[in-house]
Amino acid sequence: MLKTHHCGALRKTNEGEKVALAGWVHRRRDHGGLIFVDLRDHSGLVQVVFNPGDAAAAHAVAQDLRPEYVIQVQGEVAARRPGTENAQLPTGEIEVRASDAVLLNPARTPPFYINEETEVEDLLRLRYRYLDLRREGMHERIVLRHRVVKYIRDFLTERGFIEIETPILANPTPEGARDFLVPSRLQPGSFYALPQSPQQFKQLLMVADFERYFQIARCFRDEDLRADRQPEFTQLDLEMSFVEPSDILDLMEELYATMAQALRPELKVARPFPRLTYEEAMRRFGSDKPDLRYGMELADFTDLVGASEFGVFRAAVESGGAVEGICAPGGETFSRRDIDGMTDLVKRYGAKGLVSIALLEDPASLSAEGFRSPVAKYLEPDMVRAMAARAGAKKGDLLVIVAGQGGLGQKDEGSVHRVKPALDALRRELAGRLGLADPNTLAYAFITDFPLLEWNEEDRRWYAMHHPFTSPRPEDVRLLDSDPGRALAQAYDLVCNGFEIGGGSIRIHLAEVQQKLFNVLGIGPDEQRDRFGHMLDAFTFGAPPHGGIATGIDRTVALLAGEADIREVMTFPKTKTAQDPMTGAPYPVPDESLRDLGIRVTQR
Ligand code: AMO
Ligand code: AMP
Repeated sequence: MLKTHHCGALRKTNEGEKVALAGWVHRRRDHGGLIFVDLRDHSGLVQVVFNPGDAAAAHAVAQDLRPEYVIQVQGEVAARRPGTENAQLPTGEIEVRASDAVLLNPARTPPFYINEETEVEDLLRLRYRYLDLRREGMHERIVLRHRVVKYIRDFLTERGFIEIETPILANPTPEGARDFLVPSRLQPGSFYALPQSPQQFKQLLMVADFERYFQIARCFRDEDLRADRQPEFTQLDLEMSFVEPSDILDLMEELYATMAQALRPELKVARPFPRLTYEEAMRRFGSDKPDLRYGMELADFTDLVGASEFGVFRAAVESGGAVEGICAPGGETFSRRDIDGMTDLVKRYGAKGLVSIALLEDPASLSAEGFRSPVAKYLEPDMVRAMAARAGAKKGDLLVIVAGQGGLGQKDEGSVHRVKPALDALRRELAGRLGLADPNTLAYAFITDFPLLEWNEEDRRWYAMHHPFTSPRPEDVRLLDSDPGRALAQAYDLVCNGFEIGGGSIRIHLAEVQQKLFNVLGIGPDEQRDRFGHMLDAFTFGAPPHGGIATGIDRTVALLAGEADIREVMTFPKTKTAQDPMTGAPYPVPDESLRDLGIRVTQR
């Protein structure tokens, strides 16, 4: 080794030792005589002092040093002079007095500061990702990621799980995104699909009697990218035989709670994790991934406002729509502009508008002058009082209300359903503004009993809400023949602070139920054979009841790191347009390579 110690590991107890260090020049200060260099490696920083009187040659080397030069230093660990200790630094009590120094490699001026956590443009960070990763914050998060994966491996191994790899060159798995395809040279015109998840393989491993499987699995989905979505990401994928939903949820709760405790003890995690049905989550929060760090639950005013003089409310109720709202604590102080901003927000989610009512008096004894609203003159004080009571509002609070018309008498359609997404967006926005979302809390929860199917009006067909291998509740299997839209699934999500962390289900293990579901999904017998024959076959050879879950490692680490964008915990992520500005991927392929594959590109 070119070093005897890591820079960040030296302490008072090393005083007097002769050490060799190697690393990067973090900062250099020339005090005209003494030169101080903060030397950095993977482990941290230590101060090195070059004294021209003690070591003239080393001092000469230090004179030409600039940030990010790579050097090797020999010297002796000494206590810092009283008054010059640095309590911020783990090595702050000591310094290394250099006797020799070797320049191992100079460095060009980096495109951004590496020794400061300054804001740097995204594209630049990705183009020089290896420098971005050298910065302290990124560096720590990648180390945290390692610790998360190690924790998971140890935890599951202790509980009898075995880690098994599954193919990357695979067949399509429907998880709702587009597939990435890989052309086959040996079978021209045929393609592999990169797995959107190892779903089918892990179920087949249950048929193969591995009973408890997990994998840190790379998954690929060609979909529109957002802060919490990358085309290539990592799942903790697991599957168990002979289980019920609660077995999986209990296991995941133990894993996620103890992992947070072990790796980020300063974060608060409440146990037990609340378990809400999908119906309850939608009713109370308007979302299937509610942020439970704060209240501000949705209140349904539909039955209170039907007779109102205010046309917007009345029309909504008369057409079979809904009128719902939330109470922003202390929101009375919001300005006209704040409220215009909220109106724009709900409009982006499909609502037509928003009514705000500021409560200037105690709602229990509210007078006609006791509230302020742009439509105050249409609002009956009795109605406002009843709404305030239902929303749990107090003097000084602000009620914000969205009305959604029922679409042509069909309750499942139209803007009535936009009320909830709009209020969900508003709830999150208000929580941010009112500082209600404690950054030091991880509010995990399970959402259960999702609908099995969702209707797509455009294609006029059912889609699996989770995926087509998800089992209906036993009592709902018969609904597949009569009223599939009412069937609930044995499916569950793990959510935290408004993010979906994972999802899973008990699977179908009976061939005839799987066939029936394929039929409902409009997948005919030939296509079933073609695409899923291996699954249907496997189910006829003694498939055990089984179920599992997959959680996003990227999202898991991002939450533990307090980051909203999963790219902050990924080494080499893609841009929003799925490109890598560093390597230039994806790149155009020369015609002769394509010819080997029997492919012609018609669009460049
Ligand atoms: P699902 O599709 O819900 O389930 O995915 C599970 C989890 O994977 C993460 N995830 C993503 N993370 C980053 N970028 C993406 N594009 C992305 N897509 C998904 C999320 C999500 O909750 N096979 C099933 C699991 C099962 O049924 O066992 C599946 O893949 O955190
Ligand atoms: P309008 O009748 O469009 O002039 O709207 C009168 C008031 O009602 C305005 O303050 C609108 O923001 C509000 N408003 C309109 N549509 C809705 C709706 N769907 N839900 C809640 N408020 C609405």
